[in-house]
Amino acid sequence: MEIIMNNSIPFLDLVTPHEDLKEELCSVFRRTLATAGFIGGPMVAEFECDFARFCDTEYCIGVGSGTDALRFALIAAGVKEGDIVCTVPNTFIATAEAISQAGAQPAFVDVDERTYNMHPEQLREYLEVGCRDDEFTGGKIDRKTGRRVTAIVPVHLYGQPADMDPILDIAERYHLIVIEDACQAHGAEYFSRKAKRWLKAGSMGRAAAFSFYPGKNLGACGEAGAVTTNDGQVAQRIRLLRNHGQAQKYYHEMEGYNGRLDALQAGILRVKLRHLAAWNAARRECARRYEDLMGTLRGDIRLPYEPSWAKGVFHLYVVRHSDRRGLQSHLSDRGVDTGIHYPSPLHLQKAYEYLGYGTNAFPVSERVTPQILSLPMYAQLRPDQQQTIADAIAEFVESKRQSIALMSS
Ligand SMILES: Cc1ncc(COP(=O)(O)O)c(C=O)c1O
Repeated sequence: MEIIMNNSIPFLDLVTPHEDLKEELCSVFRRTLATAGFIGGPMVAEFECDFARFCDTEYCIGVGSGTDALRFALIAAGVKEGDIVCTVPNTFIATAEAISQAGAQPAFVDVDERTYNMHPEQLREYLEVGCRDDEFTGGKIDRKTGRRVTAIVPVHLYGQPADMDPILDIAERYHLIVIEDACQAHGAEYFSRKAKRWLKAGSMGRAAAFSFYPGKNLGACGEAGAVTTNDGQVAQRIRLLRNHGQAQKYYHEMEGYNGRLDALQAGILRVKLRHLAAWNAARRECARRYEDLMGTLRGDIRLPYEPSWAKGVFHLYVVRHSDRRGLQSHLSDRGVDTGIHYPSPLHLQKAYEYLGYGTNAFPVSERVTPQILSLPMYAQLRPDQQQTIADAIAEFVESKRQSIALMSS
């Protein structure tokens, strides 16, 4: 088998965008050194202001990571020790970790097979069948644990918004807080049939969490995150939570955390934010090109599905094949790096065995997980590289077809 090592296509290119912006990024570093403004200060405030504007929200509070953002948003919005918070099993563990770290217990609901995001009907079923009415509050109580359900965390996975209209309707009906996990969805848009307009990811729930982990569409040069919200009280609580509960130095209104956004990262993010819309557009163009190149393989390989109400930002480009292992190793032999997001649904991870779900609890997540494969996707991905990837996939599909034909002849 021919192995092309010197011409390999990386899964992610974090070098080129930083090389392109080197001068601007270095000047942020010089400004930080010159002022020694490492924590807080104008660079953080300026970024917060710009990112809130980008997300169409009133407030943005910079924090140390996406996990901090989720945990602080849940606590600030009112999730309490012993509560139940609904989310999906098909996500990065941080979504569920933040729920536990806020003192609550995650309850999983399955995803939609086409979008891989929270299925509103599964959410409704959990609340109507898996829960009983709380006659005092009009809310819901989980039948298994007897705990109060207080919040929902839909995840805009792979950069595509979850179907928020029905989720928000259900939340309103049962008095549930909605915190968007927008950690992969900077700039994604959702067409609300209710509001009759496009809304930005991060502007639809009580609050939303963003991660600026380096590989994200908007990534820092280290750890960083942010919460966006239109709720002034939530914003104020998060400002306390991220900074040991202090509004004034050494005067603590509550116990908090060390969860601040570094000034240096804020400055870097502010430079990169100016390019985010163009980078997202380039990612959408790459997705369109993948569609063109692989449209004829649709019977064999499942390409991402974008509903008419979604404008995703393709943080990841995830395809599905029944022989994922074979496809991944075929691509690797041809110098194409791929990823798996994520190899096991959370309810089957050892960390969540204690929840007692076991196999078959979430059939869609369990069916999808062994088949998904993330192809290279970034603004700098070139058409010729996409052609190489599509050719390699077509070759794999053809060899599979031939072996099936041979077996049945
Ligand atoms: C869906 C999702 N939620 C939460 C997080 C956590 O963000 P961070 O790594 O910045 O803590 C991530 C990051 O990978 C994520 O993809």
